[in-house]
Amino acid sequence: MNQRRQIIAGNWKMYKTLGESCEFIGKLAEKVKECPHSVYLAVPFTALQAASESAKESEIVIGAQNMNDASEGAFTGEVAAFMIKDAGARFVILGHSERRKLYRETNELVNRKVLQAEKNGLEPLVCVGETKEEREAGKTEEVLRQQIEESLSGVKGDFILAYEPVWAIGTGHTATPETAQETHAFCRSVLKELFNKKVSDSTPILYGGSVNPDNAGLLIKQADIDGVLVGGSSLSLEKFGKIVHASTL
Ligand code: PGA
Repeated sequence: MNQRRQIIAGNWKMYKTLGESCEFIGKLAEKVKECPHSVYLAVPFTALQAASESAKESEIVIGAQNMNDASEGAFTGEVAAFMIKDAGARFVILGHSERRKLYRETNELVNRKVLQAEKNGLEPLVCVGETKEEREAGKTEEVLRQQIEESLSGVKGDFILAYEPVWAIGTGHTATPETAQETHAFCRSVLKELFNKKVSDSTPILYGGSVNPDNAGLLIKQADIDGVLVGGSSLSLEKFGKIVHASTL
């Protein structure tokens, strides 16, 4: 295992009520006691404050799944960085492929959000990943390089990168540990090129895309994989608990 922070992160997407969130966090806190890794949970906006409160005495770090790029203003229905911070978020997922695809978020917009998060003391967890077509066309590295370069332009502080191949998200088709490792190593080399060796050596790069209790252990054992970002399996206390456990073996 390397010296970087290891993070097991859950992304609940548009699931769970307030009550369900608090109950889950209370029980998860018991399961992750003395866990050597950080456990992150990105909850819905509506559950942020209560989830942060429930996680207070535990090792669990609560965050949001998105935010607006503006500091504040007349943007009906949007949520600003200072608001999620105020509600207890410590990190925020930005550039998730569902946001990129369904809400047409560009690298440029993701970058503005990343800088806004940074300004507000939130740790950005920035997602990148190629589509099936891009991989088959041999464009994976080109796409990733551009996403990393444009989404992280001008960033000064710490961030977390998540490599999530779009073809692996919610499909049950996880990247093999070898493919994931190879791509993570590439992402790390891009960080070195764009930032410096220190950033490249210290930035956690998480793998995401159909992670489950059976494949998590092998993925996290890879040299350049510093944890996982879990969607579907993070909704089940049993499965997420097993993923945390598998990652520490
Ligand atoms: P999945 O989602 O684990 O359900 O594939 C991962 C993600 O969207 O971050």
